Amino acid sequence: MAPDAKITVRNVSKTFRTGRGGVQALEGIDFQVGEGEFVALVGPSGCGKSTLLNMLAGFDRPDTGEALVDGRPVLAPSRKGVLITQRGSVFPWMNVQRNLGFGVNGMPEAEQESLTRHYIELVGLQGFEQAFPHELSGGMLQRVEVARALMAKPDVLYMDEPFAALDALTRLRMREELIRILERERHTCILVTHDVEEALHLADRILVISTRPGRIQRTVEVDVPHPRRLSSIRLVALREMVLSELGVTQGEDRTARPAVAGTGVQKLTAGWASDN
Ligand SMILES: Nc1ncnc2c1ncn2[C@@H]1O[C@H](COP(=O)(O)OP(=O)(O)OP(=O)(O)O)[C@@H](O)[C@H]1O
Ligand SMILES: [Mg+2]
Repeated sequence: MAPDAKITVRNVSKTFRTGRGGVQALEGIDFQVGEGEFVALVGPSGCGKSTLLNMLAGFDRPDTGEALVDGRPVLAPSRKGVLITQRGSVFPWMNVQRNLGFGVNGMPEAEQESLTRHYIELVGLQGFEQAFPHELSGGMLQRVEVARALMAKPDVLYMDEPFAALDALTRLRMREELIRILERERHTCILVTHDVEEALHLADRILVISTRPGRIQRTVEVDVPHPRRLSSIRLVALREMVLSELGVTQGEDRTARPAVAGTGVQKLTAGWASDN
């Protein structure tokens, strides 16, 4: 194993004990993530993806094996690794500015203000500083989530289906924004997603997790530079590979067509100009 890995997951297994017996969520998970690398986890519902992310973010512990960040076991949540959850976690009673400031409590006020301004601009929420979460659209809320996570200056960003609740166009826009943000502020990222296209668009490497108990079934390197065009021959081939690992054959899959099909989408994907 590489000595300089940012994240090391070594032989991790996890069984949840419930009133109805045990549920083995994960079995013998092994992988590493390098500094600045973007890894996506895809797999069927219930295969343990969120469990794995929770462990890495310090909210849960493995039964066997270990999860290490910078060579040290993760024993509790810390600012080193921030988790954007499936359910979202903005405070409904705080406006955007205060939600963002919450993560950096204790920082001198002027510094906090300029940092908040920077991240509000980064995610394009200028003019909505005083707005409350119920006054924002789903996409704007997700941007608050992303901005708040980044404000904590995490070494690692864990994202658990951060864009799943959004419509297809907003999801695409969020992906573009995330790419743009990561170009400016490189973070090590682990993304859980059901959307193979999203994984192919964003990740350097995709880990396909098997049905429960989750094991790493296949690792797919996305050896395509950004900007990526999802209709490029290489990405279409990789997409087929991941889908077939997930047991989805081309004829059956009606949910994950290349995103360049519609005109509105084409406009959004203008940045993926090169034919990778
Ligand atoms: N706290 C818990 N107590 C008991 N069982 C749990 C707990 N958390 C997760 N599980 C079980 O562990 C398995 C894996 O759950 P997990 O949430 O990690 O799946 P997932 O891959 O994230 O699924 P999805 O794609 O639907 O979000 C499931 O069978 C789930 O019921
Ligand atoms: Mg989950």
